Amino acid sequence: MTSHFLVVGGAGFIGSHLVAGIVSGGDHCTVLDNLQTGHLAAVDPRASFILGDLADPVTLDTVLASQRWDGVFHLADLSLVGESMREPMRYLTINPGNAGRLIDACIRHGVRRLVFTSSANVFGNADAAPLDEDTPMRPASAYGEGKFIVERMLQWAERVHGLQFACLRFFNAAGADPGGRLGEAHQPETHLIPLAIDAALGHRPPLALYGDDYATPDGTCVRDYVHVSDLVSAHLLAMERIEQSSVHYNVGLGRGYSVREVIESVGRIAGCTVPMHCAGRRAGDPAWLIASPSRIMRETGWRPRFTSLDEIVESALIWRRNHPQGYETAALQRSLLA
Ligand SMILES: NC(=O)c1ccc[n+]([C@@H]2O[C@H](COP(=O)([O-])OP(=O)(O)OC[C@H]3O[C@@H](n4cnc5c(N)ncnc54)[C@H](O)[C@@H]3O)[C@@H](O)[C@H]2O)c1
Repeated sequence: MTSHFLVVGGAGFIGSHLVAGIVSGGDHCTVLDNLQTGHLAAVDPRASFILGDLADPVTLDTVLASQRWDGVFHLADLSLVGESMREPMRYLTINPGNAGRLIDACIRHGVRRLVFTSSANVFGNADAAPLDEDTPMRPASAYGEGKFIVERMLQWAERVHGLQFACLRFFNAAGADPGGRLGEAHQPETHLIPLAIDAALGHRPPLALYGDDYATPDGTCVRDYVHVSDLVSAHLLAMERIEQSSVHYNVGLGRGYSVREVIESVGRIAGCTVPMHCAGRRAGDPAWLIASPSRIMRETGWRPRFTSLDEIVESALIWRRNHPQGYETAALQRSLLA
């Protein structure tokens, strides 16, 4: 039997890959997105699209009452760590507020399952050891704090209303659809791999390396990069798994790469040196973030298909070379919506 899922934030980087994964698997999908950072052209044409904002309770009620939903995926957050440290109250009101409205609407309209895209930032300043689900949560940014609050809300929603949920703490999402249709096109872009690729291709000024005096082997921050297609399978497996019980999963490869190693990988794959300069540390950046993905692997059978940094970088580079302007311009997006 086919299912019908609602993907909130399905026009964004991870969401658009998830939507393509759902419809390619034979299920139905509707996207709810306000396009503040997403792209209409990234939404698979086999999915339905609703332009709407999570902040609007009337829209949420209308969408959730419109049919029976087999599950909801929530990927629609403000997600710039640096910005969250300059505007903490904005992050602490908007992200938890929107999630609270969505959870409440799900409960009132009888949705039984919700998968929330959380973040490794709930852990804050961790040490070099891979982080499992028992690691204490001490967010070091307002963005991470907002994710933490939403995770707690979901626990109450389950306890009082029986909503089954998954919190997926993603580490660094990267790469692009191996079919070449989808990729990463944030505006502004803050993620290292697309920034390094653009610097290598001459689309941007030299890359700023934020901090080279961390307590890591080469002084630069270490992160766990996981391919966006592997995050799609993590979402789908988590949605299945919560039929049995709610879950928290840390999702990464279980291996870290430093900023310098990423820059070297981009240079190797692009066949040139990445122009760069050293800048100071950014507030809210932990030195290490490496996942222990043992629990999701054990409980759902999740296995990442892209296990090396070079493979991830290569898929991102191919997409960027073929889409130097990203997706559609704002003007084209408006005309598509007209
Ligand atoms: N990209 C990463 O490395 C990463 C890592 C960990 C967690 N996450 C989380 O995964 C999720 C998706 O990340 P992404 O990189 O795809 O982000 P993105 O900005 O590309 O996608 C977010 C989507 O949500 C939409 N959106 C935002 N606010 C909305 C609102 N109020 N109403 C309706 N739609 C709204 C945007 O228009 C966009 O299409 C986010 O919650 C983010 O915090 C991302």
